[in-house]
Amino acid sequence: MIEFYLDSADVAQIERFHSCLPIKGVTTNPSILANAGIGVNGLLKQLSPMLGEQARFHVQVVSQTLPEIIAEAHQIAGLPYDIVVKIPATEIGLAAIKQLHREGIPLLATAIYTTQQGFLAALAGADYLAPYVNRIDVFGGDGVTVVHELQQLLQQQQLPCCVLPASFKNPRQVLEVLQAGVGAITLPVELVAQMFSHPAVPLAVEQFTTDWQRAFAGRLAFES
Ligand code: E4P
Repeated sequence: MIEFYLDSADVAQIERFHSCLPIKGVTTNPSILANAGIGVNGLLKQLSPMLGEQARFHVQVVSQTLPEIIAEAHQIAGLPYDIVVKIPATEIGLAAIKQLHREGIPLLATAIYTTQQGFLAALAGADYLAPYVNRIDVFGGDGVTVVHELQQLLQQQQLPCCVLPASFKNPRQVLEVLQAGVGAITLPVELVAQMFSHPAVPLAVEQFTTDWQRAFAGRLAFES
């Protein structure tokens, strides 16, 4: 089954969707954590008991140089959770991915804006690729196409890497990347709510209640 992540540091919202959906884990980036005013340790300490031992967390390095990224990745990977280390797929990031992959550290190449960039990250040894679907669109590209192309290349080359599309602003983008057969996805919580909301749904449910009460007032289905 697809690995379904929430791209969020909002504990209440993560709890809300964990109660109704099979959440594999949570992805974060430095901006998400900064905007939520919570650090990695504080967040994972709250989420781990809530989501359970099988929960996976994707945590991004903030270091800039290769030795610092490697050292930070070691520290992140050493946290007592199922952790994937996120590294931006820059030239230095690719070097870090290549080195850390040899050590067996689970890695996600992030900030992917082109198919070519993502493909190189997979060759370097990334376990996950995070193409930024909406941000690619904002730059005049086609985020959905990038996802489809990456998925096709990984399959053609039989690379052991999973496309985990990120950065969405509407449910249509989500549907179109799911149709590519991606193995994982991460969604902002606002978008998850939008995906199961439709103005016709409450009206339909209300009509069922009205009809039922007219015919079987006060009784439940199994009592009718
Ligand atoms: C995840 O890895 C990305 O950092 C994130 O999804 C970017 O989303 P945004 O474009 O909505 O900021």
